Amino acid sequence: MATEEPGVCPRLHGAEFDANPYPAYDWLRKHSPVHRIDLPGGAWAWLVTRYEDALEALGHPKLHKSPAKANVVWQRSGMGLPFDHRPTLARNMLNSDPPDHARQRQAVSALFSAQRMERLRERCRRLTEQALREFSRNGKADLIAELAYPLPVTIICDLLGMPQEDRANYHRWAAVIDSSEVAAIDEVWGVTDSLERYVHGLVAMKREQPADDLVTALVGLQDKKILSADEVTSMVFLLMISGHETTVALIGNGLLTLLRQPKYAELARTDPSTLGAIVEEVLRYAGPVRNATWRFAIEPVTIGGQLVQTGEPVLVSLLSANHDPEVFDSPAEFDPYRRGSHHIAFGHGPHVCVGQSMSRVLGEVAISTVLRYLPDLRLAVPVEELRWWPSAIMRGVYELPVEFTPRTI
Ligand code: HEM
Repeated sequence: MATEEPGVCPRLHGAEFDANPYPAYDWLRKHSPVHRIDLPGGAWAWLVTRYEDALEALGHPKLHKSPAKANVVWQRSGMGLPFDHRPTLARNMLNSDPPDHARQRQAVSALFSAQRMERLRERCRRLTEQALREFSRNGKADLIAELAYPLPVTIICDLLGMPQEDRANYHRWAAVIDSSEVAAIDEVWGVTDSLERYVHGLVAMKREQPADDLVTALVGLQDKKILSADEVTSMVFLLMISGHETTVALIGNGLLTLLRQPKYAELARTDPSTLGAIVEEVLRYAGPVRNATWRFAIEPVTIGGQLVQTGEPVLVSLLSANHDPEVFDSPAEFDPYRRGSHHIAFGHGPHVCVGQSMSRVLGEVAISTVLRYLPDLRLAVPVEELRWWPSAIMRGVYELPVEFTPRTI
């Protein structure tokens, strides 16, 4: 039998790849499942693309999260973010390893219980309706700027207990910190200074004036000596940035997917019992997070047959794993009724997302409310004209221009 020639590895960056990375991932899974990719500043990393290898890497005890474990090439390349070197922002779960990680995570996950997040449902619905009222008479909108973006910002500010007057600043800072443009790195440094000062001020304020919010709860954990002062400020900072652009992309990618799948848009609009399965399939089919965050080998390990030396960085492609045909039948098809293995859009293992219940609530409410109020919603531009973020971590569109019959809500 003739064997298939691998040919040349497709480009793994650029507008074409950002718009549709899946053919390149198909090639990688087949011909180079743990692939060395070049990164800006001379750095490089191992990119893991198969589902089974992704599970192994995400849960591997010898792949650590602390940037201090990275080799010199990575350290010198400036790949890390400015806050990775500031103890008052960097001592967060996402950068932590055993034994600190389990302690931090146990303390914080309790604050994100599914029950607490369910209580957000009604507030999300009212916020979505409020956003719809602003633009529904226009007959057109950009669903990213006018809905997907402001909704998670408001909910995160509510949860943290951030005063109303501070929210405009947070909105601006979060946009820069989460920025999908590598070129914005200088601005990221300046904004990190502002955020660091702000987080300290917010924690001090909650100590003086406790309230029913997450920052007060974190201060309580410090008082009980469960978290250190640096861990509290780092955790507040991580919560301010981690749930924002990810949820924007879930709402944006979800609406875009359903605009192209009218049968399922109709289901989401008319049968609330299908919403959970539809959002799960959006997470698999058009995931908001391209790659999990950095991991570094603390001793030589083998992943998918590839030897990874001490200090070498590993990225796990969540998008590729979630389209692995060894695990998902016809992965390029959108099918909310599929059975079998679960997607890993929220990661896997010890660092799996703590905010997943919140994102599911926001995604379900925003997507279904928009479809219900605007039944003839359609894309206002050809899908090829949409601009995708060129981010190494996120996957979403900058704008989602839509049209519909103008109406008063
Ligand atoms: C659709 C929205 C979201 C997606 C797709 C998502 C995805 C992820 C992924 C893939 C990870 C694991 C990263 C890794 O292992 O390298 C993660 C971790 C995390 N996420 Fe999310 N996330 C979302 C929303 C949120 C929200 C709303 C919050 C909180 C406000 C949040 C907070 C966190 C935190 C704190 C971690 C670190 C957990 C740890 O290190 O133990 N995320 N998220």
